Amino acid sequence: MATPGPPLWLLAELTYRCPLHCAFCYNPIDFADGKQELSTEEWLRVLREARALGSVQCGFSGGEPMLRADLERLVGEAHRLGYYTNLLTSGVGLDERRMAALRTSGLDHIQLSFQDSTREVNDFLSSTRTFDLKRKVAASIKRHGYPMVLNVVIHRLNIDHVDRIIAMAVELGAEYLELANAQYYAWAHRNREHLLPSREQLQRADAVVEDWRRRSGEAMRIYHVVPDYYEARPKRCMNGWGSVFLTVTPDGTALPCHTARMLPGLAFPNVRDGSLREIWYASEGFNRYRGDGWMKEPCRSCPEKTLDLGGCRCQAYLLAGDPAAADPVCTRSPERARVDAAIERAQQPDDGRPPSQPLVFRTPKASRALA
Ligand code: FES
Repeated sequence: MATPGPPLWLLAELTYRCPLHCAFCYNPIDFADGKQELSTEEWLRVLREARALGSVQCGFSGGEPMLRADLERLVGEAHRLGYYTNLLTSGVGLDERRMAALRTSGLDHIQLSFQDSTREVNDFLSSTRTFDLKRKVAASIKRHGYPMVLNVVIHRLNIDHVDRIIAMAVELGAEYLELANAQYYAWAHRNREHLLPSREQLQRADAVVEDWRRRSGEAMRIYHVVPDYYEARPKRCMNGWGSVFLTVTPDGTALPCHTARMLPGLAFPNVRDGSLREIWYASEGFNRYRGDGWMKEPCRSCPEKTLDLGGCRCQAYLLAGDPAAADPVCTRSPERARVDAAIERAQQPDDGRPPSQPLVFRTPKASRALA
């Protein structure tokens, strides 16, 4: 296997603590059992080691990264080291004082999440009253001279509001809007029957996005990521396992993607126990699904295997029970029927298909109950 390149994109998941309780959160279901968060000094070491390995972009996320009082210090060090720095936030805790401090620390980019264009749905989906606060934070981001990047996770419960969501983004002066359909891992997988949109909903949303793109031209860039369940081929997840993406979780576990820790039979290293260089190049966790030597049929002999690299390992495990299987999104997968069954269910109207389990919000209590 060729020597992998450097982990260009470092994601520092500073904490799993979060004031919001989104039902589609990609944090692990068992987040409440997390061990002690890395200290400031430990994070500073991670930043230095990753930069020395060749990382160029550093995202600070969570949970809610504003809950870490040392965020400005970490951003300042990342900036000094030469990273391009992003903050991924719900906006809670991002007041004027901290916004100014982050600006001074050299933060390059803020991505603010909304759950919807209406107070009612935004607050329902996050199980908080945060809609008005997010609008204030959006205005503050503009005042401080940042490009306005809004992120809205799209699913069955808000996809019919896409027109209003785009109008809200225009009104807030967004330069970029990410309409990212939920990916069905972690909490979104648990709540999939509530969240997976119908084909008709997706087609309508797509037409709305295209119409806005035509009308707004270059003024605002709209990214629209559709759910891969509706595709015939899987996504090239993380651009390949252990290829460019390195995430460090709040307790220091190093992972090739946000959710890999759930995969069975695979131990992931902790930054407290070794250097990032050893972790990236030599650990079993990062090497297991690199390249294509691990593939089984039908991936092994597939002429498209270099395009999608077998798809997503986490999805293969969640849907087929085997992380080395072909991603069941692929129509060549023997397990594709599982995806089709979920899609078929999503075509039924809500009042014609009482969900078999209630919507579960991401709370520590629910996490402990489900773990
Ligand atoms: Fe883990 Fe795709 S999300 S490999």
